[in-house]
Amino acid sequence: MLSTLFIIPTLLVLSSGTPDSWVPPGDLPVNFTVTFSAPETVYNVCNRNFTQSARNFSVDTTGVVVTPGETANAPTMTIAGASSDDMFSILMIDSDGKGDVGLPIFPILHMLITNITNADPSTGAVIDPYGGPMPPPCIAARTYHYLLFKQTSALSLTVADLPTYTPNCSFSGLEGQCNFEVANFMSTNNLTTVGYVTMVAGVDGYSRWSYVNNPALGRNEASACQGLDGYDPCPTAPPSSSGKNVMVSMSAVMASALCLILSFTFVLN
Ligand SMILES: *[C@@H]1O[C@H](CO)[C@@H](O)[C@H](O)[C@H]1NC(C)=O
Ligand SMILES: *[C@@H]1O[C@H](CO)[C@@H](O)[C@H](O)[C@H]1NC(C)=O
Ligand SMILES: *[C@@H]1O[C@H](CO)[C@@H](O)[C@H](O)[C@H]1NC(C)=O
Ligand SMILES: *[C@@H]1O[C@H](CO)[C@@H](O)[C@H](O)[C@H]1NC(C)=O
Ligand SMILES: *[C@@H]1O[C@H](CO)[C@@H](O)[C@H](O)[C@H]1NC(C)=O
Ligand SMILES: *[C@@H]1O[C@H](CO)[C@@H](O)[C@H](O)[C@H]1NC(C)=O
Repeated sequence: MLSTLFIIPTLLVLSSGTPDSWVPPGDLPVNFTVTFSAPETVYNVCNRNFTQSARNFSVDTTGVVVTPGETANAPTMTIAGASSDDMFSILMIDSDGKGDVGLPIFPILHMLITNITNADPSTGAVIDPYGGPMPPPCIAARTYHYLLFKQTSALSLTVADLPTYTPNCSFSGLEGQCNFEVANFMSTNNLTTVGYVTMVAGVDGYSRWSYVNNPALGRNEASACQGLDGYDPCPTAPPSSSGKNVMVSMSAVMASALCLILSFTFVLN
């Protein structure tokens, strides 16, 4: 953990690709949709009940914010307007873009499915199972990218190959997940982006509940409930001190890393 704090400022100036470089300009040839089905649930945490309504929805790519609770279960995905002879892969990545790509944490791998046939994502090989969004309390909503790739041939890639694409991932236990090199992954595997969905997810009762109820995160209730009435306010970034801003963005990075660890743990469970 500590060594990461020192590495981050050095990496701020480096970059290993951006969401823009993963997606070609203009209309993409395939209609790709990501659909969630959320049950009604009540999360009792932070001295109140958060009710999540039952809801079926496809991700709106224009930035409509969704919640971690309603996107906690793996989505159903569809591929329309593609040749059923083609093979596809789907990669889900957590990154807000230019500012955080190239940090030792972002982008973070949230899902990888390869060798999809018949334009049906359920036929694919699940290399990394879906891990839902888990933005930590007091962190702004994060953006998640679902990239649909066309393959040139079947991929023999397995989970054991993933660390190849995360040589700069500095979190032990997250090898093969953090600081995922999307551009390297695409070129090594001859992948072309043919469909793209972005999803923005903010903090909700489920994410706070998850932080309180997962001891691995080391967060107590006061910290998980920060920003709500009856708890400490969220820290505010100082307006014009670059040194302090670096500190704030570093803690944001550290907190978001915890969010990955949580979703990772959930996947394993
Ligand atoms: C939450 O809901 C439960 C069950 O309806 C209720 O017993 C409890 O008092 C509620 N808690 C709060 C803080 O409103
Ligand atoms: C969501 O879809 C499922 C499966 O089709 C259905 O059982 C459920 O009632 C739907 N929920 C809502 C809120 O429409
Ligand atoms: C893709 O979706 C758009 C908008 O829903 C629709 O107009 C278009 O016909 C679809 N194209 C294919 C190939 O399915
Ligand atoms: C990818 O597809 C090929 C051809 O169907 C298959 O032989 C191979 O085992 C698949 N790889 C994985 C990881 O499923
Ligand atoms: C990331 O890893 C690659 C391959 O090992 C290496 O060439 C590059 O210098 C690393 N970048 C950083 C910022 O450490
Ligand atoms: C990618 O394409 C190159 C050149 O056609 C080929 O040599 C290589 O085997 C391909 N790799 C994969 C993973 O398909």
